[in-house]
Amino acid sequence: MKRIKVNFYTKENCNLCDKARKILENARKAGKFNIREIDIEQATFLMDKFFDKIPAIEIENREYIFYPFDEKKVIEAIQRAEKIKKPVKIYNRNSRFYDFMESPMEVLSFRELREKFFKKIFESKKIKKIKILEIGVGTGKNIPYYPYEAEIFGVEIAKKMLDRAKIKVKNENKNVHLLNMDVQYLGLKNDSFDIVFTTFVFCSVFDPVQGLKEIKRILKPEGKLYMLEHVRSENPLMGKIIDFFDPLFFNITGAHIARKTKENLIKAGFEVEEEKIGSILRVFTATPLK
Ligand SMILES: C[S@@+](CC[C@H](N)C(=O)[O-])C[C@H]1O[C@@H](n2cnc3c(N)ncnc32)[C@H](O)[C@@H]1O
Repeated sequence: MKRIKVNFYTKENCNLCDKARKILENARKAGKFNIREIDIEQATFLMDKFFDKIPAIEIENREYIFYPFDEKKVIEAIQRAEKIKKPVKIYNRNSRFYDFMESPMEVLSFRELREKFFKKIFESKKIKKIKILEIGVGTGKNIPYYPYEAEIFGVEIAKKMLDRAKIKVKNENKNVHLLNMDVQYLGLKNDSFDIVFTTFVFCSVFDPVQGLKEIKRILKPEGKLYMLEHVRSENPLMGKIIDFFDPLFFNITGAHIARKTKENLIKAGFEVEEEKIGSILRVFTATPLK
């Protein structure tokens, strides 16, 4: 396994940075990671945002930990990063063939499901100036369904999937911003989005409750989360079969098929307003409890 990349942001004459450096060095004995020390004044793009929060560490360009932190917290974050690396690697690897691999499912079922899912939501909404966030945009299959008037943000953890989405966005005359980000650590402001969408994503998010908590944080209090996801079947026999095949499926595709998404929504602090039931495919409408 490749080493985890850690950037350690410091500044001159900083006693806390010395303490943080020791913690980081100790943590390195327990986990495999490479530290790159960066003076924040050299990292001008981060300076405005983070100067007051130095010392800080950045793991895999994704998760930030600000001082005070202890060794345990650093080690836990490294271990999380190691686990997240696996599905990211699989999606990056499969990105070139992803649309082709999925095409039978799209033709047989997913395309129609997407159409109905988005149509129903946008029919009943005033769209002007609305701010939409899609999590796990993948190769950008949902971009055609978004209204022209909206400002659309798409986040995606696997950079090569995102590169595919960027090609699709070029062909659409829409206001779309694509960002290489992890839903578990969204670098987006609190209470800033009207709608969040996910389609077939929460099967591959390492810690789904943490991801949903982040969505809750960035949604406006009156905002809504719409999800089209596959979940663990509630049929006892089917549920057991799914549990059995879950590890194999994960190793091939990077997705878990035994996710309890409704329970996870509730744990993360959402009210589930609507759940349309299919045995495995579900549509959820949820509101953040703020
Ligand atoms: C099964 S694909 C679905 C893609 C797209 N939503 C669609 O409907 O075609 C799941 C996507 O979620 C992305 N993903 C997985 N974990 C993520 C995370 N923690 N943050 C953001 N994206 C993630 C994967 O890289 C992958 O592109």
